[in-house]
Amino acid sequence: MRQTIRKAIFPVGGLGVRFLPATKAMPKEMLPIVDKPLIQYAVEEAQAAGIEQFIFVTGRGKHAIEDHFDISFELDAMLEARGQGAVLESIRQWIPRPGQVTYTRQMEPLGLGHAVWCARDLIGKDEPFAVLLADDLVQSKVPCLKQMIDVHAQTGGSVVAVMDIPREHTNRYGILDIESESGNLAVIRGLVEKPDPADAPSTLSIIGRYILQPEIFTHLGRRIKGTGGEIQLTDAMAATLGSGPFHGLRFEGRRFDCGDKAGFLEATIAFALARDDLAPAMRDILKSYADA
Ligand code: UTP
Repeated sequence: MRQTIRKAIFPVGGLGVRFLPATKAMPKEMLPIVDKPLIQYAVEEAQAAGIEQFIFVTGRGKHAIEDHFDISFELDAMLEARGQGAVLESIRQWIPRPGQVTYTRQMEPLGLGHAVWCARDLIGKDEPFAVLLADDLVQSKVPCLKQMIDVHAQTGGSVVAVMDIPREHTNRYGILDIESESGNLAVIRGLVEKPDPADAPSTLSIIGRYILQPEIFTHLGRRIKGTGGEIQLTDAMAATLGSGPFHGLRFEGRRFDCGDKAGFLEATIAFALARDDLAPAMRDILKSYADA
């Protein structure tokens, strides 16, 4: 019997430079797609995948995230008084229960790997765990993390969600070196962070969904700087290869890179089109811009 994945880490300590000035006083992860912040999509995906402990690695200026996943007495009282109990109910649904959320702080944004390492003492010594990056938004029938947890129940080890990207984009993502493929699963031989298109071992890219083994903390603890001078999660994952199964799952669904402006705008359109209350208006708007 494989160990159940109960805990998820949400690294939200980054600076969000690409979204300045919007992110000057507001966390990037609070940017909304339609009417919901990016981080809420990630938390709801984790909830739907059975996660019970939500660990946020925050940083300076990220208080809005803590407030978002808390009860707001004033808002609750106001909605109650106005007879808007249904709205109140819908908000209460996704707020984790008391004791399910933990915040730890990444004092300097030294990279994604460093952010994950900051949560090391909140994960058990033998406990596999999930990591979700809120700026990778996935639209799918079955939540992406659930798909990964189902694979992990069969394979054990580490599992990352992967997708094909255009070769000219390999210098934006972690890229797989593939040993073999069977169905939607790739056995991983190597991992490279942001390789030049000419050097990329494949065009299969890791998206921001990971199931990892706690041994990764040993590698992250060495604080080795990689691409961009940052402590990279990809490098630490590469160092664990060979010590257990490591699979890439071609997940079912569509991923939007919301850390990038074009990806963010596309996600807004796609999520609006998926909503009955907004789709007709959105289609009309898109038609009116067809020749722009
Ligand atoms: P990114 O590198 O895309 O985010 O990290 P960023 O650094 O915030 O954005 P730009 O590049 O400056 O525009 C992906 C995720 O990892 C987190 C970010 O908050 C984001 O959710 N992260 C990144 C950290 O928590 N700490 C870091 O040091 C770096």
